[in-house]
Amino acid sequence: MQQVGIGFLGAGIVGSALLKRLLEEAEAISAKTGLDLTVRRVAVRSLDKSRDVAIPDTIITDEPMAVVNDPDVQIVVEVMGGLEPAGDLVLSALRAGKAVITANKELMAARGRELIGAAEESGVSLLFEAAVGGGIPIIRPLSESLAGERITSIMGIVNGTTNFILTKMVEDGADFSEALAEAQGLGYAEADPAADVGGGDAAAKAAILASLAFGVWVAGDRVYREGIEALDVRDIGFAADLGYVPKLLAIAEDSEEGVAVRVHPALVPSDHPLAAVRGATNAIFIEGPAIGQLLFTGPGAGGAPTATAVLGDVINAARELAAGTQVTPRIRFNPGRIREFGDVSTKWYLRLEVADQPGVLAAIASTFGAFGVSIKSVWQEGRGDAATLLLITHEACERDLATAADAIRVLEDVKEIGAVLRVQSDEP
Ligand code: HSE
Repeated sequence: MQQVGIGFLGAGIVGSALLKRLLEEAEAISAKTGLDLTVRRVAVRSLDKSRDVAIPDTIITDEPMAVVNDPDVQIVVEVMGGLEPAGDLVLSALRAGKAVITANKELMAARGRELIGAAEESGVSLLFEAAVGGGIPIIRPLSESLAGERITSIMGIVNGTTNFILTKMVEDGADFSEALAEAQGLGYAEADPAADVGGGDAAAKAAILASLAFGVWVAGDRVYREGIEALDVRDIGFAADLGYVPKLLAIAEDSEEGVAVRVHPALVPSDHPLAAVRGATNAIFIEGPAIGQLLFTGPGAGGAPTATAVLGDVINAARELAAGTQVTPRIRFNPGRIREFGDVSTKWYLRLEVADQPGVLAAIASTFGAFGVSIKSVWQEGRGDAATLLLITHEACERDLATAADAIRVLEDVKEIGAVLRVQSDEP
């Protein structure tokens, strides 16, 4: 039986869940894989913190370089999160000839190209299945099974916390902060949940998916992002009446004009498959001319499912070590153009608070028309001084919609534009 030493950088929610598996299910894992995966060292931030798993005194340390430098550690599992010190520790481990498994989307989105280069130079594996989609196998299918497909678009729900919050708000009328607290309690949220709620976590994942799918390096900070903080419960109600559900979508497209990657809330028709994705579940559509459409769905957050993804990578790296062929990653990044966000087109939902006077709708429609934005449908709620207009437009690019909205905002009888939301629908 091949013995492989594993070192941990971090033992938080995912790390503890994986340690538990490796320490408590060692026999079952060996029986299935023919590998003896032995945890040699675990670096934690605080030695005194109570955890779900008992880490033996002989292997716990608060000195992360002790893991990287341990000659008995062949695979380093980085589950500490954040850019630093995780980035430099991963780089040191790769340079020291260790295979690295990381669940760190923030790090891979920021420094993935450099780290993949370092892994290739050292001839070791750098695997990161758990960085996107929690327990859903998506990195390996994208970079291996679909390596020959010319992928044109990816669209999905890649943040479990926000999907959990939105589900609670839509289905139970829950308050935003209560739903967030519940998601934190269930171990879905990031250490700083602003990364979930503000779209940063989903943007990092979208950058990783786009880079792998299109073979063009898209750094996380090139991804346009908007979070769900500004979503008004009134619009959730109006959207439901119009047959839509709000979702935080990650969208990556590759076209003649270049690659466009973005994360923002969007209304999806209630009969769209993504509308049925509830709670912390993630779902990722991939499209290509030969493959058509693929849908990957499953638990997108939480310790146990994410630990399964990390464990799969550990087993894969251990098998490669046993075979003496560390061949991953197999990714080449080519030059490519990132599209200006202003050029990207979508349909739009707008809520306008207006005075109910003759000519108001005509002024709004002609202002939209002047900027090339065509209105598809209009509804009115209320009468008199305080009418609410709901509009759905045909496709219009970000720049045109923003300019039209600025012009409408200053019309005399428009009190405010209460909401502007993108609509992701195939309807004409
Ligand atoms: N905070 C993340 C989420 C965890 O809610 O999806 C998985 O990356």
